[in-house]
Amino acid sequence: MNKLFVSLLLTLGITGAANAAGNIVGDAAAGQAKTAICGACHNPDGNSMAPNFPKLAGQGEKYLEKQLHDIKSGKRTVLEMTGMLAAFNDQDLADIAAYFASQKGSVGAADPALVERGRALFNGGDLEKGLPACTGCHSPNGAGIAAAGFPHLGGQHASYVAKQLTDFREGNRTNDGDATTMRTIASKLSNKDIDALSSYIQGLH
Ligand code: HEC
Ligand code: HEC
Repeated sequence: MNKLFVSLLLTLGITGAANAAGNIVGDAAAGQAKTAICGACHNPDGNSMAPNFPKLAGQGEKYLEKQLHDIKSGKRTVLEMTGMLAAFNDQDLADIAAYFASQKGSVGAADPALVERGRALFNGGDLEKGLPACTGCHSPNGAGIAAAGFPHLGGQHASYVAKQLTDFREGNRTNDGDATTMRTIASKLSNKDIDALSSYIQGLH
């Protein structure tokens, strides 16, 4: 590195860990070393086995990083993770997000009895209820839009998805921003809608 470049970096306050926009860049290899405690519930590669523990593997990095900050600050309550992120700084959280984002997510199966209703709601929404299609933000195959922070849903455990949609609807999860996007959407969903969507999402890829 030449001297001018180094002094430019110092002037701008940019360290090796930050990109030009000032965002912290996560390091997946460094992140893996920080996730020993997470594996008990989320599995070491992020493909959790238990249906109430979300899969993290293949999830968008930006979304993961935001959730980690929200869980750490208490903006999103995850009782099972109380205090667990307290010792991690912003760089640690970025590294952990990069690690799980770099893993390959597994896919489950949809309940054949629910798949039709789930697919119709996911792809088309419900005009009468003013429910938008999920595909606009989470994409038709459930991959989400990583750069926008719209989470990957495809293959996620149905029980976990159902709990999130119910939590958004009942106001128990409120970290979807000032636009309250997911709270508004979930308020239009019946329990049957949630069951069908969650099952469809579990098999989606
Ligand atoms: C004792 C079990 C347990 C451990 C250990 C644990 N988690 Fe979690 N985690 C959960 C549960 C349960 C949820 C979902 C809570 C809910 O229903 O909203 C969750 C949610 C998350 C989410 C949000 C996922 C999403 O799709 O929104 C992230 C990210 C996360 N955990 C990361 C971690 C990391 C990183 C560690 C290790 C430092 C960790 N967890 C350790 C149980 C655990
Ligand atoms: C306008 C964009 C938009 C639309 C449409 C939308 N979502 Fe979302 N969804 C989001 C965003 C943004 C988040 C992340 C909120 C946050 O940061 O916590 C999210 C989060 C979620 C989550 C939580 C994921 C996790 O890992 O915890 C689920 C489940 C979900 N959406 C399901 C749906 C379903 C089902 C539909 C269709 C009925 C839908 N969404 C429509 C933007 C959207």
